Amino acid sequence: MTVESSPELSDAGGQGASAPPAAALTQPRVPPLAGGGVPGLGHGLKLVRDPLGFLGRLRDEGDVVRLRLGPKTVYAVTTPALTGALALSPDFKIDGPLWESLEGLLGKEGVATANGPRHRRQRRTIQPAFRLDVIPEYGPIMEEEAHGLAGRWQPGETIDCTAESFRVAVRIAARCLLRGEYMDERAERLSVALATVFRGMYRRMVIPAGPLYRLPLPANRKFDRALADLHLLVDEIIDERRASGQKPDDLLTALLEAKDGNGDPIGEQEIHDQVVAILTPGSETVASTIMWLLQVLAEHPEHADRVREEVESVAGDRPVAFADVRRLTHTNNVVVEAMRLRPAVWILTRRAVAETELGGYRIPAGADIVYSPYAIQRDPRSYDGHLEFDPDRWLPERAKDVPKYAMSPFSVGNRKCPSDHFSMAQLSLVTAAVATRWRFEQVSESNDATRVGITLRPHRLLLRAVPR
Ligand code: HEM
Repeated sequence: MTVESSPELSDAGGQGASAPPAAALTQPRVPPLAGGGVPGLGHGLKLVRDPLGFLGRLRDEGDVVRLRLGPKTVYAVTTPALTGALALSPDFKIDGPLWESLEGLLGKEGVATANGPRHRRQRRTIQPAFRLDVIPEYGPIMEEEAHGLAGRWQPGETIDCTAESFRVAVRIAARCLLRGEYMDERAERLSVALATVFRGMYRRMVIPAGPLYRLPLPANRKFDRALADLHLLVDEIIDERRASGQKPDDLLTALLEAKDGNGDPIGEQEIHDQVVAILTPGSETVASTIMWLLQVLAEHPEHADRVREEVESVAGDRPVAFADVRRLTHTNNVVVEAMRLRPAVWILTRRAVAETELGGYRIPAGADIVYSPYAIQRDPRSYDGHLEFDPDRWLPERAKDVPKYAMSPFSVGNRKCPSDHFSMAQLSLVTAAVATRWRFEQVSESNDATRVGITLRPHRLLLRAVPR
């Protein structure tokens, strides 16, 4: 299925023998209201209690479905083709409940929350650091960190996968993009701060009860402290670079030297917000994905063995290198399949800039739209054995059957993650390095159930490392 051939879209465009009469086409329909809303709260409670299950079931109610969150109406999009159309259409911008919440974390002036000319200018500033031909320059750091991670553990040791995954993700992002040193203490602080902040953000997003969050309750205080530390950390990184007087060719220098639309240096707030906008989504998403990869290696030892065999066939006795990654087909497929079943970014929102239409449904100006990559990537209409962990489905002869936009964990369009190649390279390398050296077993206190926050991660994954 492609956007062009999608029945939803072609109906909307009025093509095809079974197209509805012209009058119906000029008047897009109002999407059905999802079932199970509660007076006053609407579907908010369902979203809080079981967001993944709730969003996944919406596909049975329609291609576009209305939800009520308190007084707000939100439109949920449930087909791959329409999520692609949404992400690619200029009728929608970054805004809405998720982004309003995230602005409290990311700031209002960073690339992840900006729109229009500012967003385009900021993408131009950061893009060079993520270009495909630049990624190999990060290879030595990624290798050092991946092998450093695999080399830290003792035989039989229980690994706290949350801390370890965060540590390596922050170190790779900070060392490659910000050329930061002494990142262990900062990785720890960032990890603790982000966990608290993202949990609080998620609550504020699904239950928008503004004044409640300003009460001096322990949970609110903890949230405020974590947020303050996050910003302090970023200020430290910027101050340290300025004090060093150095200007290495990296993303931080690009941010510090960036000019606005008039050619003037950008303000301090924008510099700060830009560093936050790179470091925080970069660490949280990669860390969560590494946690799931470790979980997958423990749960599917047959695939862990295949990863090891593949690495040995490519690298022989030497440690796996960055340059090997493009030949590690199975390892890469394990990463993609882990991301299909547990996409770090499981929910995305947009806001309609003007009244528009999606899949034949009317979307009013200012409406918030939501969709879930998690639900899309587990849709039985797109995937045979949709809940099975089956990395071989990404072999070329099978991958061609996957509908367009049914697997877009980095999104598409002008907001597509700039870091897709950077992320995939490090995820494959880390998987290859740890699977060659260790086998993993979950210990009895481990809890690998999915914890829903701004990203998805296991509740508390604890693995015993057994040498190979
Ligand atoms: C945007 C996913 C890693 C920086 C996005 C978006 C997705 C995403 C889905 C688009 C959001 C939307 O459409 O609304 C992921 C995943 C990652 C990952 C799954 C890893 C597994 C990273 C890393 C960095 C990063 C490592 C930086 C070091 C960004 C930035 C944006 C973004 C700055 C905003 C782009 C814009 O709005 O123009 N990411 N990301 N991401 N990501 Fe990532």
